[in-house]
Amino acid sequence: MILKPVEETEQDRNRFAQIIMSTTLGKTYYPNEAFLRHEIVNAPIEDERFLLADEETNENIGVLWINRRGAFHSFPFLHVIAIRSEYQGRGYGREAMKLFEELCLEDTTGKKVMRTKAFLLVNCDNSVAIRMYEQFGYNCVGEIKGLFRKRTDERIMMKELRRGIQ
Ligand SMILES: CC(C)(COP(=O)(O)OP(=O)(O)OC[C@H]1O[C@@H](n2cnc3c(N)ncnc32)[C@H](O)[C@@H]1OP(=O)(O)O)[C@@H](O)C(=O)NCCC(=O)NCCS
Repeated sequence: MILKPVEETEQDRNRFAQIIMSTTLGKTYYPNEAFLRHEIVNAPIEDERFLLADEETNENIGVLWINRRGAFHSFPFLHVIAIRSEYQGRGYGREAMKLFEELCLEDTTGKKVMRTKAFLLVNCDNSVAIRMYEQFGYNCVGEIKGLFRKRTDERIMMKELRRGIQ
């Protein structure tokens, strides 16, 4: 799987937004695609968005939206990881997590980072994602009730990352 940075073109932005909206995550957190496109255009400048593509077919499998200083202005934050539903359960999510962690251990100029702490938020009902994160070594460091939606609780998860150690 390869990471293709999302270009600042309408076409790339739309493709990125469409993939998110095709998943349960998109449908839960964004009222519609136009709203999400607005969020993308107005996102913090340090946000990085990628299309995940199959190496052989170049097909877009999913997306990654991160900010390497998005947690507390200091630590990497995984904003969105989403795999198109027809490709879920084939190992792409795990591959995308590995790519995310590689990015965490490099700053945006390509300089290596020896250690850091990666953060993410996950819906408490999203057992598939929670299980995947736990398998990767993320621990729950807190829970916020009704953070984005009245009846939806979020779990904050964190992993200490060190270069050379999985
Ligand atoms: C969470 C998500 C990224 C996982 O991606 P994926 O490509 O399906 O994951 P993988 O194929 O790499 O599998 C990861 C694990 O989840 C399990 N899994 C994947 N889909 C599953 C399903 N529908 N039901 C049960 N388990 C499932 C796999 O068996 C695997 O576990 P294992 O390693 O113990 O076998 C994907 O389901 C997704 O995009 N969901 C919608 C968006 C979302 O919720 N993102 C997370 C927000 S925080």
